[in-house]
Amino acid sequence: MDPRPIGIFDSGMGGLTVLHECLVTLPHEDFVYLGDGARLPYGPRPLDEIRRFASEIASYLEHQGVKLIVAACNSATAAALPALQRRLSVPVVGVLSPEAHAAVLATRNRCIGLLATEATVTSGRYTELVRALDAGAEVVPVACPRLVPLIEGDDPFGEETAAAVREYATLLKDAGADTVILGCTHYPLIRPIFQRVFGRGVTLVFSAEETAREVAETLERKGIGNDESREGAYRFLTTGDPELFRAMGRRFLQLPIDAAEHVEVSALEAAAA
Ligand code: DGL
Repeated sequence: MDPRPIGIFDSGMGGLTVLHECLVTLPHEDFVYLGDGARLPYGPRPLDEIRRFASEIASYLEHQGVKLIVAACNSATAAALPALQRRLSVPVVGVLSPEAHAAVLATRNRCIGLLATEATVTSGRYTELVRALDAGAEVVPVACPRLVPLIEGDDPFGEETAAAVREYATLLKDAGADTVILGCTHYPLIRPIFQRVFGRGVTLVFSAEETAREVAETLERKGIGNDESREGAYRFLTTGDPELFRAMGRRFLQLPIDAAEHVEVSALEAAAA
C-alpha cells in the first residue's frame, strides 16, 4: 500500500476533465493537480518550449513526493512524454497512447480522425502510436486552433463553437473516418456538440476515461495503490490566478473546488534546474 498522492498537470484547466475521471475511478487516492495558467495556452507554442515547461512541472511534482505523474495535457504529452519518462524516477502516464489504443480497437474501416491543438498535430505522435498498433491504419489529423479559446470563453455551447466543430468535422467526414480521437483535454466539455455533429455512426474517443483506466492499471500492476476503504482528497496548484482557477475550474471538474494555491513559475524553473 502506498499513501503518496498522484500528481497531475495541464497547461490550465482542461486536465481537470482527466482528474474528474481519475477521482471517479480511484476515489480512495489523493491527488495534487497543477495548472500552468500563467503560460496557457500550450497548443500554439513550439514543441521544445512545451517540453521545457512540462519537464519543470513534472520535476516540481516529483519534489512534492508524488508516486505517479499524469501528463493530463495532450500537447504536453505529445511534446514531452518520452523526455519526462527518461528524466523522472516515478511512472509517468500520458493521454495519447490510451486514446490511440482505444481508437485502433474501435475502428472498423481503419480510418481514424484526430482533432487536437496545433502542437499535438505537428508532433505526429498519434500517427506513430496508431501505426505501432496497426501499421495499416490511416490517421487524418486536423488542428483546431479556435476550439480551446471558445471552450474557455463565455459561451462554450454557443453557435460559434458548433460552427467551428462543424467546419473541422467536415474534413474528417470527407475522409471517411469512422472513429475520431478528441485529442485535447478541453474537448470533453463540449461532448454533446461533437456527438451531434458526428452522429451515432462515428465512435468518439476521449482521453479522460481511457487515461483514468491506464492510471488504475499502473497502480495495480506496480502495487502502489492506496487503501481502498478510505476516501481520497484532492488539492490544486496554479501558476495563474487562484480565484479564476477556482471559479472556472468547476466547469471542467464538475466537482467542488474550495481553493487553489498559487505557485510562482520561478519555483517550477528551480525544480528542473
Ligand atoms: N491542454 C491542452 C491540450 O490538451 C489544450 C490547451 C492549451 O492549448 O494549452 O492540448
